[in-house]
Amino acid sequence: MITPATIQQILNRIDIIDVVGSFVKLKKRGTNYLGLCPFHNEKSPSFTVSPNKEIYKCFGCGKSGNTISFLMEHEKYSYVEALKWLANRYNVEVEETEVSAEVRAQQQVADSLYILNSFAQQYFTNILFEDEEGQNIGLSYLKERGFTEAILRKFQVGYCKESRNAFVIEALQKQYNRELLVKSGLAANRNDELVDNYRGRIIFPVHNTTGKIIGFGARIIKKNDKAPKYINTPENEIYIKSRILYGMYFARQVIDKYDECLLVEGYTDVVSLHQAGIENVVASGGTSLTTDQIRLVRKYSNNLTIIYDGDSAGVKAALRGLDMALEEGLNVKLVLIPDKEDPDSYVNKVGAEAFRDFIEANKKDFILFQLEVALKDAQGDSQKKAAVVNQIAETLAKISKAEDFTKQQDYIRQCAELLKIEETGLNNLVNKFIRERVNKQEAKWQAEAPVAEFDQPPLQEYDTGSDEVFQLLIKDELQERAVVKALIEFGLKAWDESTKVADHIFNELVDEDLFDNPQLMDVINTYRLWYDAGLEPTAKNFFYHENQALSAVVVSLLEFPYEVSEKWKNKFQMPVNSREEIYREEVISTLGYLKLRKIKRMMQENQIDLGKPHTPEEQLNLLQTHQALKLMERELLQHLGTVIVR
Ligand code: GTP
Ligand code: MN
Repeated sequence: MITPATIQQILNRIDIIDVVGSFVKLKKRGTNYLGLCPFHNEKSPSFTVSPNKEIYKCFGCGKSGNTISFLMEHEKYSYVEALKWLANRYNVEVEETEVSAEVRAQQQVADSLYILNSFAQQYFTNILFEDEEGQNIGLSYLKERGFTEAILRKFQVGYCKESRNAFVIEALQKQYNRELLVKSGLAANRNDELVDNYRGRIIFPVHNTTGKIIGFGARIIKKNDKAPKYINTPENEIYIKSRILYGMYFARQVIDKYDECLLVEGYTDVVSLHQAGIENVVASGGTSLTTDQIRLVRKYSNNLTIIYDGDSAGVKAALRGLDMALEEGLNVKLVLIPDKEDPDSYVNKVGAEAFRDFIEANKKDFILFQLEVALKDAQGDSQKKAAVVNQIAETLAKISKAEDFTKQQDYIRQCAELLKIEETGLNNLVNKFIRERVNKQEAKWQAEAPVAEFDQPPLQEYDTGSDEVFQLLIKDELQERAVVKALIEFGLKAWDESTKVADHIFNELVDEDLFDNPQLMDVINTYRLWYDAGLEPTAKNFFYHENQALSAVVVSLLEFPYEVSEKWKNKFQMPVNSREEIYREEVISTLGYLKLRKIKRMMQENQIDLGKPHTPEEQLNLLQTHQALKLMERELLQHLGTVIVR
């Protein structure tokens, strides 16, 4: 974790014009800057950057945000990656909180693996292009298959010689340690002797999304029934199969641009399609998609088109992963390549243009496709057909998670048609599955939820009677917002000789019950955390906070200055002085109103209690409580009055 002090330093130096300007050409227009929006295609500029507010907004596509969200959106960085990018740009030394020895050791292994892999890639590429065996066996094989030198260089393809340990010798000479060589999968241990693991194979490096090499796929050249066609890097600190899509590094920006990700099975499919100019393509390695892979795709696009050969086992594997894709809100299409071809061989056979046309013409909706296949299988068997109906209803029920109602209705109509059943019948069945799922979810939430929160009656059910003030108090969260706002605006100002406003507010808030809105409480707690750590929190810290919800709350507090309503002003004769000069009074009064609300609420509860049957003793107790509360209320009002009217 990056330390708060480092984050503060980074935030202090952020220059949105400099950052956005390094990706978008900006021209000054008045106080703002204008450019062509990087998030959608446009001819005349509607992308506006405000240096004063430190935000950008596109009036064409509506995208907006701050410097950090720009980096996260444009470069697909995580929050931490964006901070590190900024730190690097502004020469801020990044301090990270102490990590455990275990984590540090893991990071060191990961770093070493990256370095070793990069070395290996250069070695293998060099062999492919410069070495005699590399050229005669590796390169000639690849050229035979139609790959150009340019595309092989782009994908950093290589060749591993047939020799027992040519690579291992080289690596050991360069001081790479034996354990690491085995962990990387580049070498295998045979009776205490290290040997090359990818002997006589074409080497496809696998990159992560920032272009670092995390592992390899090694394809055999000579036919051999005993050896597997491909050997992949074993799982290690950086090669985690379930998160990898081969080719994503080269495809990600194009996927973003065309808003579509093509998914194929193999390494050669990806490289061939790139060579043909179809660059929004990644490979899964023929296994079913994992949630992590689906999320990786969704970072760039919601549209996934699977291109597989018609009779491959891979189709079934891919289909298995796809219910999950629906739940994650992806639109999935499917294209099957005919005649025992795969995308690589097919694009080589018919050419790039015909390939594109074929894809466009044969895209099938994944759900309808699945239904067609199942129906064919169930022909004439009414029991099987019933199972198909059930299955499809369950699948359709999952769409709702993406909150895409019309999409679901469309599917229900189309599926009912294919199934030759009543639309309303299918609709009911889908609803049944949705209900089941919701019930399960609720049961789970209830099991997890803290019990105490449900003890109090919900606010709306209070008998607030004629007490219009109390209504106001509850409805607006006015007082909570005012306190949080005062904390952020005046927290660092002097309260008295030795303490600050923040100290005073925290003291007064020891009773956490004063807040209903957990998000507002969250802001207070976060402020306190920073404050106690010796930082001087400002609105900016919240503005750039990793937690979007938190940031949004604070922005809404500050952007739309909360004005005390007329009713309140009249009722309590609030002054209309400028807020700055009366900040102490403001703090006292906001806290006062917050407490007033609490007292009002207790009185309400007490009143409700009084309405129930009680023993005389209980009755007396309640009445005394009522009187005590009434007294507190009067005192508070008087106190507030003196502050205000002073
Ligand atoms: P070419 O036959 O050279 O065109 O390669 P391909 O990518 O078309 O191979 P294929 O269609 O047989 O397999 C598709 C993908 O499945 C490959 O790219 C690999 O990712 C994976 N795969 C195939 N065979 C093996 C294997 O023996 N072991 C492993 N680990 N993966 C394999
Ligand atoms: Mn192939």
